[in-house]
Amino acid sequence: MTDSDHALAELTIQQLDGFATEFARAIEPLVDEQSIRAVQAQFLGKKGKVGEVLKIVGKLPPADRAKVGAAGNKIKNTIEHEVARRLGELVHAAARADLARTFDVTLPARPHGGGHLHLLTQVRLEAVQIFSELGFVVADGPQIETDWHTFEALAIPKEHPARDMQDTFYVSEEIVLRTHTSPVQVRTMLTQPPPIRIVAPGHVYRRDDDPTHSPMFTQIEGLAVDEGISFADLKGVLIHFVSRFFQRDLTVRLRPSYFPFVEPGAEVDMQCSFCMGAAVSPPCRICKTTGWVEIGGAGMVDPDVFAQCKVDSEKYTGFAFGMGLERMAMLRHGVNDIKFYYEGDLRFLEQF
Ligand code: DAH
Repeated sequence: MTDSDHALAELTIQQLDGFATEFARAIEPLVDEQSIRAVQAQFLGKKGKVGEVLKIVGKLPPADRAKVGAAGNKIKNTIEHEVARRLGELVHAAARADLARTFDVTLPARPHGGGHLHLLTQVRLEAVQIFSELGFVVADGPQIETDWHTFEALAIPKEHPARDMQDTFYVSEEIVLRTHTSPVQVRTMLTQPPPIRIVAPGHVYRRDDDPTHSPMFTQIEGLAVDEGISFADLKGVLIHFVSRFFQRDLTVRLRPSYFPFVEPGAEVDMQCSFCMGAAVSPPCRICKTTGWVEIGGAGMVDPDVFAQCKVDSEKYTGFAFGMGLERMAMLRHGVNDIKFYYEGDLRFLEQF
């Protein structure tokens, strides 16, 4: 072993010890974690100064290696310890600054974007409100319904062509997703004696899917049963409803039509709330300038239905109606694609 080997070891140790001062000077003015970490890397990183100097260890006589290695560990510890101490100081300083902060409690709050009821919920609640003013109460029924309540009791037997009008989702032979809210009429008549005045809003399902049809949509059913209920009562209730809902004097016309569970039956049209029947230009896209838009079906409860529901048709008469709530919302707001109601797009929903 030569003196020059020892000299090299001594020199390396000196170099390593020297880093302590150099590092202390570099870190002294720094006040943020990023620059402290950068300085740490300059010394201890992969290509850092300490590592570079320590490369020599392999060339040193074994007797000196331990000494140089110890000096390397010492500087590493010094630097790491100092970095940890400084970062700890930074955290404490931030916490102290946070505590020292004062708040101006008189500042106005930032506006907070609140949610609101879905358009269809708004329309449903409003419709219910209007009917309740006339003495109707809300009735409810299951969406997964028996074939009997949905069809049979409403005078639509299995082979009846009217079943084709309603593309039904079958759960099993005897269980369906209700295609209309009319089964709630049946459930109500079976459980409570007249006088009956109910409305039944709710989801219904049909195998239909295009811009004006969705496989799930919402109807509101109405039923009034009592002594002396007439077709005029039906028309009066419907006129009252559309006038209140659209907040202007709109009338209703009843076009003779066929629904198995009413007799006579009618299609319900209301005056177009957009053009009021005036010959506007461009032509009204809602009613196609006819001045009328269809909003549902209605009629006098068929004695056959009364019989199924154990209501005495000698004593009582009744009217029923069913309307689509999406259509109501569309006629009020001009929404032209039924999908908008269900996509949950806030850009659409926030407008209402
Ligand atoms: N349930 C019918 C449908 O969804 C609508 C309807 C028509 C309901 C006439 C009624 C009614 O109560 O009397 O197509």
